[in-house]
Amino acid sequence: MNILLLGSGGREHAFAWKIVQSPQCSRLFVAPGNAGTAEIAQNIPLSVTDFQGIHQFILDNAIDMVVIGPEEPLVKGLVDFLQSKTDTANLPIVGPSQLGATLEGSKDFSKRFMQRNGVPTAAYETFNATQIEAGLAYLEKQSLPIVLKADGLAAGKGVLICLSLEEAKASLKEMLLEAKFGDASSKVVVEEFLSGIELSVFVATDGKSYKILPEAKDYKRIGEGDTGLNTGGMGAVSPVIFADEAFLKKVEEKIVKPTIAGLEKEKIDFKGFLFIGLMNKDGEPSVIEYNVRMGDPETEAVLPRIESDFVDLLHGIATGTLADYELSISPKFATTVVMVSGGYPESYEKGFPITLPKSTAGSVIFHAGTAKNSSGELVNQGGRVLAVTGFGEGLTEALANAFSTVEKISWTKAYYRKDIGQDILKLKN
Ligand code: AMP
Ligand code: GLY
Repeated sequence: MNILLLGSGGREHAFAWKIVQSPQCSRLFVAPGNAGTAEIAQNIPLSVTDFQGIHQFILDNAIDMVVIGPEEPLVKGLVDFLQSKTDTANLPIVGPSQLGATLEGSKDFSKRFMQRNGVPTAAYETFNATQIEAGLAYLEKQSLPIVLKADGLAAGKGVLICLSLEEAKASLKEMLLEAKFGDASSKVVVEEFLSGIELSVFVATDGKSYKILPEAKDYKRIGEGDTGLNTGGMGAVSPVIFADEAFLKKVEEKIVKPTIAGLEKEKIDFKGFLFIGLMNKDGEPSVIEYNVRMGDPETEAVLPRIESDFVDLLHGIATGTLADYELSISPKFATTVVMVSGGYPESYEKGFPITLPKSTAGSVIFHAGTAKNSSGELVNQGGRVLAVTGFGEGLTEALANAFSTVEKISWTKAYYRKDIGQDILKLKN
């Protein structure tokens, strides 16, 4: 198969790394890709939202399957666009329809979907600017903290956890009346705060049947001990040992099954990955959010644990034949440490040459924001630069392998969190 993969992050390097290991892959193109994908596939200078360009590339290069990494082209309707063209109408695509992608693109839509389908989630109400008075009155009746969520995509910044009523009121006004998050906050979901331990479950689905991939926990804040600003993700571990078999069984019965049944019942075309963000409160799962794609950096810890053929999995998703696929998962641990440009998630300098180690025993280096400069040197080009995944029989060994490689990587002002996985080790002991 000739495969076109869309995206340019560590997630996409991990996808590419798995895809080229499969005998089913003849040629892999990545648009636009990064310096890591360029080493194992052919990068194509196409934006993930250049729908016409993507369509033409598919025709010109006899592409047999398209795999869409990030949410933006999904929420903007790339799948529907390709399906509307007669020459790509039946092309296997991994990625949900625009309606399916609304599960991530609109928090209000996804909360209503959960309610209709009996999926446990925090109590909520949604307000727009004309309902500001009702919104402020609703806040008065809530217990603290109060969670406010911009309805639309806000680059991971649209969720506010307000510790006082005054803060909640001021934030609600800013979001609805002053467009704090632009269009994304023209509607705001006001939600009950869920306490507990957070983790993510990843589901591959063709809209009818599903396979549950390994779960993961990510580390969202820039600072150690989960302090400071939110980022795209600073690390990940899989498996998550506090999510035992009994808990994961509850997730499947109470969350995954009603979600997939809801997609089918409501005729929402969903062939792709569903990322379910969960809170585990006293052993009971509750959904924090759906994303309609794999997580980054969770993918870099989850995909290496898949032992069965990855291209067959993708093809099963895209062609509605997932029920026939036998998923096999390694019991090994995988831990990912993200190395970022100094200053991220605020402003940072680009273009510093990166030194990589010759040996990466027990680990693999995935590229995210990397590029080659005009002299052919590898340089940092984005906020999140590299994602290093270490493997081991246990969490301690996997972390040691990841950090031993991380410590051998350098560039000016590189930063990473040294405490990835430490919270879980403490829970265990
Ligand atoms: P989201 O953008 O929906 O992923 O939310 C960002 C983060 O806010 C989540 O990963 C949680 O840590 C936190 N969060 C969101 N909703 C809630 C909630 N209802 N209760 C507690 N924490 C929440
Ligand atoms: N790591 C969180 C995400 O991919 O949304």
